[in-house]
Amino acid sequence: MSFIKNLSWRYATKIFDSNKKVESDHVEKILEAVRLAPTSFGLQPFHVTVVENQELKDKLQGFSWNQPQIGTSSQVLVFSYRTDVLARINTYFEMISGGNEEVRKGMEGYETMMKNFAESMSEEKIASWAARQAYIALGFALASCAELEIDSCPMEGFDAAAYKEALALPENITPVVLLPIGYRSESDTVRAKVRFPETDLFSNK
Ligand SMILES: Cc1cc2nc3c(=O)[nH]c(=O)nc-3n(C[C@H](O)[C@H](O)[C@H](O)COP(=O)(O)O)c2cc1C
Repeated sequence: MSFIKNLSWRYATKIFDSNKKVESDHVEKILEAVRLAPTSFGLQPFHVTVVENQELKDKLQGFSWNQPQIGTSSQVLVFSYRTDVLARINTYFEMISGGNEEVRKGMEGYETMMKNFAESMSEEKIASWAARQAYIALGFALASCAELEIDSCPMEGFDAAAYKEALALPENITPVVLLPIGYRSESDTVRAKVRFPETDLFSNK
């Protein structure tokens, strides 16, 4: 199928067939698409937790307005944003300099600019900026699922604090959006696409 056809095929699946598993090589492909997603400065201030354990998924469903996508899914991808931006910048420059101090010195101006950017933001702004990067990654995961003909449902309807505790995530990592994945159940209703018209969404100047 073509990319656009795949995007028309996908829909926000409410009930997955809990007998069908998404194989690990497919999960790896989705995660690789997430890894390749572009982010501001390339800092990738997000983390994805893949939840496959049934008991844990059932528990998480209770923190998600009891939406059945969670418990019936094959895996739940929990997208979190990270707030440890300064540490992230350090690691980034360590990575791109290959640990070579001379090379890193040559990039000092760029590193300082990035650190100034991070330090200029309030905690709230950092959270909002990092969450936006997590959503770009979510978009790549959604498209990747469609490409692989794997069903999914993006979800914001959940209690982030309860997820954070249940997943034992550290202070600097906070869940922001979910993507349960799997294969649609025969009992689920495939909803027709509802989209605003092109004239509303796009314009030329
Ligand atoms: C960020 C985001 C959050 C969403 N949260 C939920 C949710 O909590 N529960 C749900 O059933 N659908 C959720 N949806 C699915 C949307 O309702 C759905 O994508 C939209 O109506 C378009 O339909 P389609 O995805 O089937 O084309 C969410 C979608 C997005 C992108």
